[in-house]
Amino acid sequence: MIEIKNLKKHYVSGVLKKTVTKAVDGVDLSVPKGMIYGLTGESGCGKTTLAMSILRLVEPTSGSIIINGREFTRLNGLKLRRLRPKYQIIWQNPESSLNPRMRLADAIMEPLRYFKKCAKNEEKDVLEKYCKMVELSPDLLNRYPHEISGGESQRAVIARILTMEPELLIADEPTSSLDILVQAQILKLLKKIQRELGITLIFISHDLQVIRYMCHQVAVMFKGKIIEKGTCEKIFTNPREKHSMELVENTLGEWRIAT
Ligand SMILES: Nc1ncnc2c1ncn2[C@@H]1O[C@H](COP(=O)(O)OP(=O)(O)OP(=O)(O)O)[C@@H](O)[C@H]1O
Ligand SMILES: [Mg+2]
Repeated sequence: MIEIKNLKKHYVSGVLKKTVTKAVDGVDLSVPKGMIYGLTGESGCGKTTLAMSILRLVEPTSGSIIINGREFTRLNGLKLRRLRPKYQIIWQNPESSLNPRMRLADAIMEPLRYFKKCAKNEEKDVLEKYCKMVELSPDLLNRYPHEISGGESQRAVIARILTMEPELLIADEPTSSLDILVQAQILKLLKKIQRELGITLIFISHDLQVIRYMCHQVAVMFKGKIIEKGTCEKIFTNPREKHSMELVENTLGEWRIAT
């Protein structure tokens, strides 16, 4: 479904002296439809930049992204705007995706209303359907984001995204800001939704236990490049690259995600 070829994103920054950061530096990746594909690596290796480049939330410096046979990097204007709702991202911090002055019901319905995809008299049913899907209590729908917990916020964010019926979802450390129990609940929920709806999910985490629980395949990034990829089983039991070995040794301790 997604074919990424030689993708690069180089940031030019600096005030006194220009510096170039090669945040993504020649990534090749192919993600089959309906799969959970993990992306891992140490902080600063370029995971978020790769995610943003794939969705063109930042413009890639060069390279190609083919989604469903279509060259995504070449789309512009109306064609790009039409596709955007189908490709979604969940951020680490749910509060950043919810307007603090909007009640949850309105926040969840906002994109549907914006794209005029739902008649006024259908709104209640739609809300009920998505609350059920993400296991969010309907009692919370008239609250503001600061009146609910982090886990509930992330459920509301997921509900809002699901209303757009996404084909491709990127989750960038979606549970890192949550406590361990809630983290496990949200991971389970994401897994269930992905399976039921057949969404292609790129799942980013620096936590290999989370990757192992969630993903079918995984790619390890290091300094803007993918240094190793394969099934979780292969990478976790027989990593070939020195850096993947270090990651596995350092982060796979005692199993702690209740399955
Ligand atoms: N807008 C920007 N301008 C300049 N450099 C940037 C910009 N955004 C990110 N970078 C740099 O690109 C590199 C990769 O950053 P990125 O946020 O993609 O890493 P990451 O793997 O997601 O890290 P983390 O695990 O901490 O979230 C870092 O060196 C970062 O400083
Ligand atoms: Mg990041």
